[in-house]
Amino acid sequence: MGATFDFGGKVAIVTGGGSGIGEATATEFLRSGAKVAIAGRKADRLEAAAEKMRETTGGEVFCFATDVRVQEQCQALVEAVVRHFGRLDILVNNAGGARHAALRTAPVESWRQDMALNLDSAFFCSQAAYPYLKAAAADNGQAAIVNISSMAGNGGTIGCGGYSAAKAGLQMFTRVSAAEWGPKGIRVNAVAAGMIATQLAKANWAKTGFDAAAATTAFPLRRPGEPEEVARTVLFMASDAASYITGETLIVGGGPTIKGMIDTDD
Ligand SMILES: NC(=O)c1ccc[n+]([C@@H]2O[C@H](COP(=O)([O-])OP(=O)(O)OC[C@H]3O[C@@H](n4cnc5c(N)ncnc54)[C@H](OP(=O)(O)O)[C@@H]3O)[C@@H](O)[C@H]2O)c1
Repeated sequence: MGATFDFGGKVAIVTGGGSGIGEATATEFLRSGAKVAIAGRKADRLEAAAEKMRETTGGEVFCFATDVRVQEQCQALVEAVVRHFGRLDILVNNAGGARHAALRTAPVESWRQDMALNLDSAFFCSQAAYPYLKAAAADNGQAAIVNISSMAGNGGTIGCGGYSAAKAGLQMFTRVSAAEWGPKGIRVNAVAAGMIATQLAKANWAKTGFDAAAATTAFPLRRPGEPEEVARTVLFMASDAASYITGETLIVGGGPTIKGMIDTDD
């Protein structure tokens, strides 16, 4: 598919850009003309993903090993990107993931890790990015943050209480940061992903015997989503096409909450 948006001259950070939804998002930004920095803990994973992106898009990718649960590392990431590319226009807070633990017995450390990875990280990176995004908006009128939430943050997921609460918190962080930073030209939105068939998800499904096809038979779209489908929504939210949208969470989930009582299919 060709580029839908034009991000020529813009610089984006995608946390968790070395795999899954983050990798797809970084690739789509590169295809659309942006320069992209990807961050994650494992430098070798980042470099391998970056090499693939350079081959497929010809774009400029910068890798920076970062643990987004650590505030100083988020600050260092943003500063390194601005040193490398000279500016910052877009931040995608994508790094995240769920732990499985029943609330009745969940260890406090599991709860704290869910919060640190899925919520603290967005606060740390956004706060570090704020002065540079403000400068970018003053320069060209637009800067954007897109937070990757989950439908677990809307409907809740049994066995993922910490994750669900953190992703719901991320949606509220999106609203308040949008309100505080909108006057400076920074839009903040969230994308709440549903069941997405990343490499890692597919490997987990195969390992646990989870049948994604059966699990999606009640979805209007009858299938899990692809990482690129989330990525293209992120690009829309970050683009000038969304210039009057801020503080919102857009669900990319194939419509699983829509239910009916009679079969109307032909
Ligand atoms: N896939 C789905 O069905 C789905 C559904 C709803 C929401 N989401 C959300 O979408 C986002 C991406 O998920 P995904 O499915 O694409 O996951 P993934 O393939 O597991 O990718 C997660 C990425 O985050 C990075 N990461 C993990 N912990 C990190 C840390 N402490 N610091 C920096 N980077 C870290 C990982 O790299 P390193 O291991 O190298 O650090 C990895 O590249 C997450 O926020 C997830 O909650 C996914």
